[in-house]
Amino acid sequence: MQTPDRSHLLRELKNHLLFLKDAGYSEIPCESELFAHPVSTSPVKIMEARKKSSLSQVQEELGDCTRCKLSQGRKTIVFGSGNPKADLVFVGEGPGADEDEQGLPFVGRAGKKLTEIIEKGMNLNREKDTYICNIVKCRPPGNRDPEKEEIEACNPFLVQQLKAIQPKVVVALGKPAASTLLGRNVAITKERGTWHDYEGFKLMLTFHPAYLLRAYTIENRKAVHSDMKMVLEALGR
Ligand code: URA
Repeated sequence: MQTPDRSHLLRELKNHLLFLKDAGYSEIPCESELFAHPVSTSPVKIMEARKKSSLSQVQEELGDCTRCKLSQGRKTIVFGSGNPKADLVFVGEGPGADEDEQGLPFVGRAGKKLTEIIEKGMNLNREKDTYICNIVKCRPPGNRDPEKEEIEACNPFLVQQLKAIQPKVVVALGKPAASTLLGRNVAITKERGTWHDYEGFKLMLTFHPAYLLRAYTIENRKAVHSDMKMVLEALGR
């Protein structure tokens, strides 16, 4: 058998590191939990694995997650819901009490507002036309903001979820989701209504529906309406 030369090995290594980066890793895992591949795996095999990663595989990898302390207080992991092939994905902050109870995202008061925005405002069907998930999949106690380590522990799964769905547009709902997706502190009042790039997907920032409920002004409602109009245009609808 021919021994691979140094440049071949370096190419293989580079491909493997790019694969891990795509899978959401920011450092080299000792024991790869997501889509483990030995360094010797050929780029062809890696590409095959990449094609196969479906939403249910990502959920399987998440398992009965205990990667952060949110697992200690949760009742249910709220992975996401909707059409796994949707062109439009909404990303919220984290499950609240109702979501924790039912295991589904956005089913409480804020969820009803989001459904209204999707169905009445955009004339879309929530289940058929969208997929909805959060930056953290377990309820932060007392509905506090999720912490940095909690967001970081969940982030590879969010990245993989979006890559499995391949939406045309991602909408970040509120500051924590926008800041997480863009990796910087986002001033949502200033930056809502603007387009960004997230891992190659078109990303729109808008207000969180819970904020709309708290500050139910004509100005805020018009703002969300105008943001969703831009989203519909980008979707070609
Ligand atoms: N708020 C969120 O950000 N996500 C939910 O799932 C529910 C409320």
